[in-house]
Amino acid sequence: MKIRYLNSIIFQTLVLCISVTHAETECDNVQNFVKDFSRNVSVRCDVEDRVLSIAINEGSMSQENLNYILSLENLRSIELESVEINGQLPSNIDTLINLEELNIENCGITGEIPATINNLYNIKYINLSNNHLTGQLPDMSQLNNLIELELPYNEISGEIPETLSALPNLLILSLGNNKLSGNIPSYIGNMKSLEFLSLANNNLSGEIPSTIENLKNLGSIDLSGNQLSGFIGDSLSKLDKVFAIYLQMNNFSGNIPDSLGQLAYLTSLNLSYNNLSGIIPDSLKNLQSLSVL
Ligand SMILES: *[C@@H]1O[C@H](CO)[C@@H](O)[C@H](O)[C@H]1NC(C)=O
Ligand SMILES: *[C@@H]1O[C@H](CO)[C@@H](O)[C@H](O)[C@H]1NC(C)=O
Ligand SMILES: *[C@@H]1O[C@H](CO)[C@@H](O)[C@H](O)[C@H]1NC(C)=O
Ligand SMILES: *[C@@H]1O[C@H](CO)[C@@H](O)[C@H](O)[C@H]1NC(C)=O
Ligand SMILES: *[C@@H]1O[C@H](CO)[C@@H](O)[C@H](O)[C@H]1NC(C)=O
Ligand SMILES: *[C@@H]1O[C@H](CO)[C@@H](O)[C@H](O)[C@H]1NC(C)=O
Repeated sequence: MKIRYLNSIIFQTLVLCISVTHAETECDNVQNFVKDFSRNVSVRCDVEDRVLSIAINEGSMSQENLNYILSLENLRSIELESVEINGQLPSNIDTLINLEELNIENCGITGEIPATINNLYNIKYINLSNNHLTGQLPDMSQLNNLIELELPYNEISGEIPETLSALPNLLILSLGNNKLSGNIPSYIGNMKSLEFLSLANNNLSGEIPSTIENLKNLGSIDLSGNQLSGFIGDSLSKLDKVFAIYLQMNNFSGNIPDSLGQLAYLTSLNLSYNNLSGIIPDSLKNLQSLSVL
């Protein structure tokens, strides 16, 4: 009995030693691994030597290397900026169940945003600016913690999906400089927490939906560079907190609404390159930055 008991202690200690050594190597291994790709890397680990965050600025890496990084399942934050990858986001990205920040900017990422992104329940920030992402926006309706969705300067096409309007905490939605088409959907008015909205330089048509007036927290709205038409209407004049409205390079017609002058915080308004008529209302003459023609 006693010998057995002793054996079991020795065995347990051995297992413990092995697992500690093994865990220690994850942090060390990753620290050494990423140094091959860039001179500017930062890897943070927890007390148990699990990798929590990786930041790499400028450099290059292969698809396999990206896949390896995206398989470190304790990661909370990934920041890859100007790292030449020219690969795709793998569909098993949802193994990163703890991920809160996914920032991969200016890295030449191609292909579609994988549908599995909708399983990253803990994610708060997604910034995939300046890549070559194609296809349509996937369903992200399960991302209840998402605060920021930034996808500008890609090649994303299709319409703005209704599933986006289910995100209760979204503050920043930046989809400019893509190939989105169709109308600005009326369900955009459900995104009540939005503070920043850019749909600039896409191929959106139709009118501004009147539901936009429900975005009471909006500070900046940029719809420039589309093919929007119709009257500007009074709905934008109900955005009490708005300080910047960019509607230039569209096909809006009719008069400039007088009611825009009621917006206490408005400092920038650009309406140039449209098909507007009439006079500039006196109510707008005190704006810091007004561009109409
Ligand atoms: C290193 O990268 C960080 C961002 O990850 C950036 O802020 C910093 O300027 C970079 N440093 C150098 C020396 O390039
Ligand atoms: C997202 O990434 C782009 C490109 O690096 C950067 O300019 C932008 O500031 C980032 N957005 C936020 C909110 O940090
Ligand atoms: C833009 O949308 C219109 C329909 O509104 C379509 O006829 C046209 O082909 C689209 N252009 C591009 C570049 O997608
Ligand atoms: C602009 O809108 C007018 C109607 O106000 C329409 O007749 C015209 O075709 C539109 N132009 C473009 C370039 O979309
Ligand atoms: C308004 O938009 C036009 C067209 O993009 C641009 O040329 C002009 O500089 C803008 N005005 C201001 C004050 O930014
Ligand atoms: C400007 O609007 C008028 C009347 O709404 C329309 O007849 C004309 O085609 C429009 N011009 C352009 C360039 O879209």
